[in-house]
Amino acid sequence: MPQTVTMDKIVAFCKRRGFVFQSSEIYGGLRSSYDYGPLGVEMKRNIKDEWWRRVVHMRDDVVGLDPAIIMHPRVWEASGHTATFNDMLVESRTSKRRYRADHLIEDATGRDVEGLTPEELTEIIRSDDRIKDPADGGRDFGEVRPFNLMLETYLGPVKSPENLTYLRPETAQGIFVNFKNVLQTSRVKVPFGIADIGKSFRNEITPGNFIFRTREFEHMEMEFFVEPGTDEEWHEYWIEERWNWYLDLGLKEENLRRYEHPKEKLSHYSKRTVDLEYNYPSAGWSELEGIANRTDFDLKQHAEFAGENLEYIDQATNNRYVPYVIEPAVSPDRIMLAFLVDAYTEEEVRGEERTVLKLHPRLAPTKAAVFPLSKKEPVSTIARELYDDLKGDYRLFYDDSGSIGRRYRRQDEAGTPFCVTVDFDTIEDKKVTIRDRDTLEQERVPIEAVRDRLKTLISG
Ligand code: GAP
Repeated sequence: MPQTVTMDKIVAFCKRRGFVFQSSEIYGGLRSSYDYGPLGVEMKRNIKDEWWRRVVHMRDDVVGLDPAIIMHPRVWEASGHTATFNDMLVESRTSKRRYRADHLIEDATGRDVEGLTPEELTEIIRSDDRIKDPADGGRDFGEVRPFNLMLETYLGPVKSPENLTYLRPETAQGIFVNFKNVLQTSRVKVPFGIADIGKSFRNEITPGNFIFRTREFEHMEMEFFVEPGTDEEWHEYWIEERWNWYLDLGLKEENLRRYEHPKEKLSHYSKRTVDLEYNYPSAGWSELEGIANRTDFDLKQHAEFAGENLEYIDQATNNRYVPYVIEPAVSPDRIMLAFLVDAYTEEEVRGEERTVLKLHPRLAPTKAAVFPLSKKEPVSTIARELYDDLKGDYRLFYDDSGSIGRRYRRQDEAGTPFCVTVDFDTIEDKKVTIRDRDTLEQERVPIEAVRDRLKTLISG
């Protein structure tokens, strides 16, 4: 079933409510570059925190790392990115536009051409009349050629080949080159993982679908090192674990599915890759997260290129081996889009239309809003004191303008799960009302119990 909400609606909503803005908008915008607004930045931080909490803090066998974006250029030779991190590019001679050859063919013919050589792709484009330039319908295309997706930059004042380096296209390599450092400085033992979150860059030929595919994005990657022979079992474990993370945060199961990469289309480093796909608007089922069995490819490559011994010695058995690696990799940007689509709801309640973002409280940008029913004293002072007391715990919002109904609707749209109202009865009974965004149920809670009650409600 396709999504009922359209991407256009999500994009407009994100702008209107301050989740995501087009980058450099006052200059006409930069295609495929986005800025996260006041609500968006909170939500994205929550996604990263939830990932880190579950993948690092809640476990005894994973540690964190924050490697640099700019690395030694030899890293990318060893990893295979310099030679093989390519998309197939074709230029239309009539419109001068450039396209990904595989997308052009797949869109026109439905034929899956992943893994074919540039020559084979050129032959298909030249011989199949259905393949036309989407811009002008022309059929005059150049040769298909590989285009490397790494963004180049030069270190230092001279733009010479020896100063050429890259903005990393994945964070994983920063983990592999630190394998020995982490082994020597932490008390980790195989099986164990190293996790990181940071920016990656890819000069995508056809970015698009809002924040789904951008040239600058954040990566959340975890490399889990295991003894060869146990890798298949660990791979299954991480597929299951990552699947459950989405469901535990409230993603609808019917919008999530597994996709098994066919053997002949696996990345150069992979023995098996399973994607978790989300049913996005416009694009339909597309990769949300990839979970790969990277074998011992990367550690062996770095051992060879750097001349380092990257073996692990099992102290109990004295066995030496290069560990295999299981890697769950995802961007918080793609996760955010999935959760926004999943949570966006237009509904009628009690005879009124409302737009509500039914986000899990842990992901909601604002956890609770505090409202004084009236700006008069002492109601407003009680509300302000409650707000000041709680605001260091998490993102809160104070709102004393407009009718209470309008204030609720604003918070429903922003995904705020709880609204705390101080009213005239509060003066006597020292209690406030907590209203639930989804059920609209209200409960009366003593002021001194609000902190604990909200903590329980937010942790879900
Ligand atoms: N280290 C393995 C790796 O990077 P990948 O399948 O190329 O594998 C992993 O990327 C994840 O990173 C994807 O599932 C997606 O969530 C995210 N990702 C990749 N390219 C992206 C882009 N251009 N924009 C946003 N997210 C992207």
